[in-house]
Amino acid sequence: MILKILFSLVFAAAVAGVGIRLTNAPHTSATTAIEAPAVTPTPTAAPFSHPLLFSPVNTNANVSIGIDEACVQILDGPCTNMWTYGGTYPGLTVRRPTGQTTNVTFTNNLDPAAGELTVHNHGNHSSAVNDGQPDSLLIPTGGSRTYVYNGLEEGGNQRGKMQFYHDHRMDVTGRNVWMGLAGLYVVDDPADPSTLPSGEFDLPLVIADRQFDAKNQIPYVFNPNGVTGDKFLVNGIYQPYFEVGDRKYRFRILNASNFRTYFLELSSGDSFIQIGTESGLLPVAVTRTGMRMGPAERIDVVVNFAGQLGQNIYLVDALTGTQLLEFRVTQHVTDDSSIPATLRPLPDIGEPSVTRNWSFDQTGGHWTINGLRFDPSRVDARPMLGTTEKWVFTNPTGQPHTVHIHDVAQQCMSRNGGACYPYETMKETWYLAPGEVLEVKLKFTDHVGMYMLHCHMMEHEDDGMMTQFEVVRANPTPRPRPTPVPRPTP
Ligand code: C2O
Ligand code: CU
Repeated sequence: MILKILFSLVFAAAVAGVGIRLTNAPHTSATTAIEAPAVTPTPTAAPFSHPLLFSPVNTNANVSIGIDEACVQILDGPCTNMWTYGGTYPGLTVRRPTGQTTNVTFTNNLDPAAGELTVHNHGNHSSAVNDGQPDSLLIPTGGSRTYVYNGLEEGGNQRGKMQFYHDHRMDVTGRNVWMGLAGLYVVDDPADPSTLPSGEFDLPLVIADRQFDAKNQIPYVFNPNGVTGDKFLVNGIYQPYFEVGDRKYRFRILNASNFRTYFLELSSGDSFIQIGTESGLLPVAVTRTGMRMGPAERIDVVVNFAGQLGQNIYLVDALTGTQLLEFRVTQHVTDDSSIPATLRPLPDIGEPSVTRNWSFDQTGGHWTINGLRFDPSRVDARPMLGTTEKWVFTNPTGQPHTVHIHDVAQQCMSRNGGACYPYETMKETWYLAPGEVLEVKLKFTDHVGMYMLHCHMMEHEDDGMMTQFEVVRANPTPRPRPTPVPRPTP
């Protein structure tokens, strides 16, 4: 299937020039849009000559997503053959109110060589059968699977946040995600403050690197030390520009790269106001001039372009000195948004009763956890439903890892024996630099069953830096013994 970006569209508000991708896939956005002048691709790509686009959004309770091969226009010249969720990269965005059940049906239309697939809704509090198990409950070639997400957590609604869904097949997650199998899943929560920038001022930025060959293709060659590329894409666009008004915007940023870490800055030297993490809003906003971001981390920020009318400001990766995205402040608009002094308190999950240690290590030439590579037949912990545990992560290797735990969010207790960073109160993907020690606590609520714990640097994960834990019910109270009946004497 050939996918083409026909022209960009602009929301009726027409302030921000928000384009959405047009695809020939069957899923379309419910957003009302008006036509904007066609963007003429230049044969030699001038940097920042293509508008930032956004994947189509589906807000329905029942969503069908074809896992389709598609040729996606990324660089000028030939399109790039990718594996997609619904024909675009990133895939279809699912956006749902919290507390409501959502059924997402995926159909595996890929070539049989891709093998069986599985989809993990990263950050969602899914029951085990709906969590995208790496080696069971798979989606065969030509087959479908419906994942049910109930939007609930511990007797209430899940917190508002930006999750993302991606392939999680054992041994080949890195390949499958590199080929394009990632999309956003946004949970909207009326309990979050309504004064934050919203609507066309609340936008996702998905950052991912790829290595293109001379024909603009992205062949994947596994390397346990990470697969990276020299081109950095934002929402699947290389060097995009984005026209903004001189006001506050909320950007929900995802590092969707397999392996690469970024350090985000604004070329103006201005600060980001971080309001949230993977796991929803922070208790209070934190002002940051630079933000390190490992694979799968999400950072929810407000950027204020007030007073910068007429300027071009770049989102920069300071680690490589690369400009990722050009903001053009082209419109004067009024801003009625504000960031409240307090955002969302953390849930009270009590104090931990059990401590477990997890060493993200290198053993026998492979990436391991506690010296062992992933084995779907081995379970390394059996926490009890309803209890809170302390998990301690250590990194004795010379490489960083991003520690990700499925099922429930974790609260930071300490980093390197001291205070946690103020912007990492509650998360589910943690940057663990060489030599670092991180203590978190987590409460196992609602669901029993098997969940993964792994490094989200995908080549580490595929090489073996993954394990599983099984949430179990508390031991059933022993059955009362039957009262012995005296034997009749013969
Ligand atoms: Cu984002 Cu276990 O994954
Ligand atoms: Cu790692």
